[in-house]
Amino acid sequence: MNDALVQRLRKSLGEREGSSLRRKLVARAVDDARINLADNDYLGLARDPVVVEAGITALRAWGASSSASPLVTGYTQLHQQLEHTLAAWQGYAHGLVLNTGFAANSAVLGGLPKAGDLVLADRLVHASMLEGIMASGARLRRFPHNDLDALELMLHEEPALGGVIFVVTESVYSMDGDGPDLRRLASLRKRFGFCWVLDEAHATGWYGETGSGMQEHQGVLAAADIVVGTLGKGLGSQGAYVLSHASEVRDALVNFAGEFVYSTYLAPVSAASALAAIGRVREMVAERPRLQAMSVEWRDALCAADFAVPTGDSPIIPLILGDSDVTLRYAEALRSSGFMVSAIRPPTVPVRTGRIRISLRRGLDASALASFLSVLKGISR
Ligand SMILES: Cc1ncc(COP(=O)(O)O)c(C=O)c1O
Repeated sequence: MNDALVQRLRKSLGEREGSSLRRKLVARAVDDARINLADNDYLGLARDPVVVEAGITALRAWGASSSASPLVTGYTQLHQQLEHTLAAWQGYAHGLVLNTGFAANSAVLGGLPKAGDLVLADRLVHASMLEGIMASGARLRRFPHNDLDALELMLHEEPALGGVIFVVTESVYSMDGDGPDLRRLASLRKRFGFCWVLDEAHATGWYGETGSGMQEHQGVLAAADIVVGTLGKGLGSQGAYVLSHASEVRDALVNFAGEFVYSTYLAPVSAASALAAIGRVREMVAERPRLQAMSVEWRDALCAADFAVPTGDSPIIPLILGDSDVTLRYAEALRSSGFMVSAIRPPTVPVRTGRIRISLRRGLDASALASFLSVLKGISR
């Protein structure tokens, strides 16, 4: 191996090590019995019998792989059925399944905005969105997190462009569990005529009467021009999708997005599992308010124990601890006391906002909260 390269890699890894920021992979065992407060399977659907059975049936029918990129032979009737189901569920005319949410965001935001366009993005949008925007050649301005007054000011400030203005937000932010007022965004969109790209990754399943997400929950179904969602979080599967009102968005991705064109397509088993998961999510109408109430209950209990966590009812609760070494110490203590948690540190989150990202799931009971609090209180601050 080239010596200069190895030295360079060693140096940057050493810098991370020195500031408690170096990441290490830990392989999870199949029989790990700890309470999982780290993953994104908020509804427990990855192991739901109906979802698993649908996956097994598809595995038998289609085999383990799609075996080709979608424009060759990878695109199956299962993928087609999935995109129609997703689009109809969330109020859009067109849908396209992609391999991951990361690929979906980088394809949409790397491909649709062009030089001469302007992208106004929340300061905390996901890395996949930023990567896309940076690659697009469009000008980027970032507004303070969830601050729609600041966004409105930017919209006023920008002179009439020849190009397109894109506004990019999430509905539930992955590391903070909060989100913007989508009704106000919808009305800004009407007034200013921008193209609104909304990432619903962490809202699907948890919010909305039928579980389709935050647009449904806030009464603005299908208000965004383009929705990006993932099958790998609340839907307990793998893969992602892009929904739009305009057929041209789908056609452009099919024709121009390298993430779609040049990659072996999502395995049919994942599409079939996601389809079954959507069915399960739609059934959970009465359960959803209880899930949201559980989030409020956890937040209240953490506040009562003197931990500053924000109000809200999403499945993601940021327990902000500050420095990375403190965050690591909490994570290790919790992990060795029966909880699977992850220490989230910069650059994933801003400096000195290291945190345990508590991610709730259907089926957690009161005893889990009580024992989590008791372990937490025993860790010296
Ligand atoms: C807001 C958001 N969008 C997109 C993604 C990427 O989705 P996927 O895990 O399907 O690649 C994530 C994953 O962490 C996310 O948090």
